[in-house]
Amino acid sequence: MCGVVGYTGINQASPWLLDGLQTLEYRGYDSAGIQVVSPSGNLHGVKCAGRVAALRERAAAANPTGTCGIGHTRWATHGAPIDRNAHPHLDGSGRIAVVHNGIIENFQELRRELIANGHELVSDTDTEVIPHLIQEAWEGPAKGDLAAAVRHAANRLEGSWAIAVICADCPGTMVVTRNGSPLVVASTDDGAYAASDVMPLASVASRVYQLQDYDIATLTPDGQIKIVDREGRAVENPVALDIDWDASAAKLGGYSDFMAKEIAEQPEAIERLLKDRLGEHGIELDELSLSNEELAAIDKIVIIACGTSYHVGLIAKAAIERWARIPVSVEFASEFNYNEEYLVTDHTMCVVITQSGETADTLSAARRMRGMGCNVFAITNVLGSTAARESDGTLYIQAGPEVAVASTKAYTAQIVASYLLALRLGLANGSMTRAEAEKHFHDLEEIPTQMREILSRRWQDKQAARLFRDKHSSLFLGRNVNATTAYEGALKLKEISYLHAEAYPAGEMKHGPIALIEGGFPVVAVVPADHVHDKTVSNIQECLARGAAMIGVATDGDEKVAKLCSEVLWVPPVADELIFPVVAILHLQLLSRYVARDRGFDVDKPRNLAKSVTVE
Ligand code: M6R
Repeated sequence: MCGVVGYTGINQASPWLLDGLQTLEYRGYDSAGIQVVSPSGNLHGVKCAGRVAALRERAAAANPTGTCGIGHTRWATHGAPIDRNAHPHLDGSGRIAVVHNGIIENFQELRRELIANGHELVSDTDTEVIPHLIQEAWEGPAKGDLAAAVRHAANRLEGSWAIAVICADCPGTMVVTRNGSPLVVASTDDGAYAASDVMPLASVASRVYQLQDYDIATLTPDGQIKIVDREGRAVENPVALDIDWDASAAKLGGYSDFMAKEIAEQPEAIERLLKDRLGEHGIELDELSLSNEELAAIDKIVIIACGTSYHVGLIAKAAIERWARIPVSVEFASEFNYNEEYLVTDHTMCVVITQSGETADTLSAARRMRGMGCNVFAITNVLGSTAARESDGTLYIQAGPEVAVASTKAYTAQIVASYLLALRLGLANGSMTRAEAEKHFHDLEEIPTQMREILSRRWQDKQAARLFRDKHSSLFLGRNVNATTAYEGALKLKEISYLHAEAYPAGEMKHGPIALIEGGFPVVAVVPADHVHDKTVSNIQECLARGAAMIGVATDGDEKVAKLCSEVLWVPPVADELIFPVVAILHLQLLSRYVARDRGFDVDKPRNLAKSVTVE
């Protein structure tokens, strides 16, 4: 979704602003812009619909000069993605510039009020009311104090925001504030920086500070950052985050795209996650804020998530119910938020699964669960994210920055993280013995090797991708936990190749989707050597009888599947049925990437999508 960057210091601002915006491209956006102010008070901006590359070209031609500036990538919510709606937006005097992430829910009323007061608004955005409100405060009660003017304006807003503001009348000063949308700042020898996430700052700082809701920070060219809370009291010890990954982790490093890189990084991610987790007392999960007795008392688990993380939740449910014998319900956060009748017990635990830790629906649902008295445990990738800050305990999956919009390494790492939770719960409540937990843990330790084997077989995915040429639709089937492998495989294909993919539990197919099948129609069947293997093979036969082009995802040596399918994506044998989905999904990630590339699409930045969906 939208991204914010800001810099004030001793260097020209535009180069870093443009680089920073490029780093934020992964969030998904459709227009971009920057505005800088020169030490003599000249505001100069460029903005345009399209990519940061197009903005760079415009900036090269216009050469905006100034050592203080703000930048933005916009993901359209209010108003089409056209130049006029791109940020930064200016006030009526053309001297105050603002970039904004989030949604101003009361913008219609504010807009009417501003127009009645004589303001002229020129865009269709909710954001544009902000510079005009700041202008009113600047000329009125704030009396030329930018931070005070921003505070006055913010007090009028409803909704969510991360805002960065510069003003021609105080060149060199940048004011930032937030409510509900993340914002971090960093102080360096070259000046002070702000951004909506740590990614752009990793190249300039190793420590960043998180603003809390309604904090207002004033950044100056000497690198000073003064933070005050909503009452105007100085914030002496802001929450610091040390960036524990190298800036190169967010670079391509020889890969053609981030999706390829992130698919390839999965074995190492799982190794990192499992390191030191088997200890003297069984599974080490100190991140849980509950005692052994409290864990043993848990009688219901509610998993909240969206998208790919929701699919993780479905597999986590299977593991928790099998290993810890605790009933689990998995809820789409967006649906859960409007289900007024939701029932919890006195010992219900809420598990929030979110790669970014910033998904608005997931955060609202987690807050609601907390309000209902549940202990909230987050599984997330992003250090210091809102989900982590607002939860009682957080397990970081340590997958490293995931830049491609389509989630890959976070998916598998989140599944393995949920398996650790299941084992820990099973040990706490006596559903499994220490020896059993150790056996399962050792099975998990095999995953990186099995993943590497799949990566070495990527030619199979490339070959299978040909069956999708010139096709408009496809079907993904699987049973049991691998119905979820089918859902996730279909989601990946839809996201990046824009090819319709229906995913169904294999046995349900005959109740409707079978009608889709005609000659050459691609069907992917996930059919491991498990207890439902023969049932799924029967479903493959049903598809073949109607002319489907069959692609099997099967265990090495499965001759039945080899005979029936045009292509087989082979998976090495696994010791436990719960391991197969973690390993087999690599084939479907690779397959969807090959299909998308065959079609000529940008696999990292699919249309209409955002990396973290920070609006409800
Ligand atoms: O950051 P989160 O895990 O909360 O994100 C949830 C979904 O928006 C996300 O998984 C989305 O479905 C991905 N683009 C899938 O590849």
